[in-house]
Amino acid sequence: MMDDRIHMGAAHGTLTAGTDDDGRTPEDRAFLKTHGEALVIRLFAASKTLRLYDATNRATQRVLQEVMESLNSIMEREGRIFVRSSNSFLLLNEYRIPIEPQHYGPFEYWVGELQKKEVEAIEIGAATTPEEIAAFLSEFAKPDDGEDLFAGLEARLQAAGVHNIALTHYIERATQLTDVKRDLTADVRQESNRVYFRTVALMGNVLRTAEEKQILQVRKAKRLTQHMVDIIQTDESMLLGLASIKNFDAYTFAHCVNVCILSMLIGDRMRLDKADVARLGVAALMHDIGKTYIPSTILNSTGQLTDREWELMKYHTFFGVKELSRVNALREAVDSMFVAVQHHVHFNDNGYPQRAGGWKLRLFSRIVTVADYYDAMTAWRIYQKEPITPDQALLFILQNSGEIFDPFVVKVFIHAMGLYPVGTIVELDQGEIGVVTRQNGDSKLLHRPVVEVVRQEGDRAVRESIDLAERNPDGNYVRTIVRSLHESQVDLDRRLIFLADATVEAE
Ligand SMILES: [Fe+2]
Ligand SMILES: [Fe+2]
Repeated sequence: MMDDRIHMGAAHGTLTAGTDDDGRTPEDRAFLKTHGEALVIRLFAASKTLRLYDATNRATQRVLQEVMESLNSIMEREGRIFVRSSNSFLLLNEYRIPIEPQHYGPFEYWVGELQKKEVEAIEIGAATTPEEIAAFLSEFAKPDDGEDLFAGLEARLQAAGVHNIALTHYIERATQLTDVKRDLTADVRQESNRVYFRTVALMGNVLRTAEEKQILQVRKAKRLTQHMVDIIQTDESMLLGLASIKNFDAYTFAHCVNVCILSMLIGDRMRLDKADVARLGVAALMHDIGKTYIPSTILNSTGQLTDREWELMKYHTFFGVKELSRVNALREAVDSMFVAVQHHVHFNDNGYPQRAGGWKLRLFSRIVTVADYYDAMTAWRIYQKEPITPDQALLFILQNSGEIFDPFVVKVFIHAMGLYPVGTIVELDQGEIGVVTRQNGDSKLLHRPVVEVVRQEGDRAVRESIDLAERNPDGNYVRTIVRSLHESQVDLDRRLIFLADATVEAE
């Protein structure tokens, strides 16, 4: 039975992006990660507290003390505190602080505020006092006014007696860099990572609050899916690559996000309206929300379910509707309700629940069924006997077209994914092993994607992009895929390719 029993309540992931090798030791990086993260979170907390109480209040004193502790330990070990924002990340002394999904709020706040104030970097001197930090945070939080935001802020800080904290204006650097070519793919990579992990974090919240029976955050989900549509319309490869990494700790949440991305890709390629694709995305995100009603012993069971357990399991479709009826944006939840109840109904009316007469199987549901099967099949599961590669999953979907799946949806899906979907690990005819990173736009070249090969040269790992559509002067293809491989068969981590500036830190 190919059901998508997802592991509810799994610890959420520590998905992180680090820096290039900058000569730091692993201990240095671990230090900067821990202390950088703490500093960002504490400054955030202090800024919030200062909005409620003045600097002499006990609560304020305590958070300021914590900020000082962070500053002192960083200064002691590093000799300097230089915080810079770049491409939606924060860097501490040029080390990119990894963002854990559950800490997205404080990071997003600072990146956004720095951008708004046109500040690129903040240097905090050794002599900085708690009073200066308080004055700095208060001035920083004041609403922007006037023409020259940066100069205005600097003047206010001077007037408030802040002398040990220096700001760098980003406009100055931006003009210096105008002749440097912007790397578009790097931007898409960052943006895709950002929106992907924000959505994973959101799903973490949604599934947890559903368990705690709070109000669902449908509007936030909608904003994120709208953002994803923009990326899909520009270059979907990075999002698909992220969706192909299934060995995240946060797979429970990532499954929902993957189904969302795949569904929206199908919707976009069907030329649905942008607004409809975003609505489809929300419905796909919420498709399994009814599983929060199923006991985790059943969800996580690796053995055969009893008949009773299986009956209960099937009820996650109805529980989904029940859960979605509680949302604050009911009108927007109607699509999601249909998908929740219909995503296990087959095109030929098999599956579950049984369809009562007159009920139409909606397009959104038919799309999500394909996306859900594909992601569930390609995920690594302890109870999955045979490992399935992405191209084998596609083949299964093709073979069941007209039975389980809507043939039109299948056709669109295969066109969008190619025969070797992004993330597939392949062996080439000259023996190299690589990962598919993008499709060749031409529909006659569905079997000739672009593959990234990682090769060991001495003690360096070298990455090379190979376009399998490329031909020799004699007209023959330079390289060809021999077969696909499962990740359990090779020593290759997709995370190295699809995470922004990837280093993945296991905790
Ligand atoms: Fe699912
Ligand atoms: Fe389901």
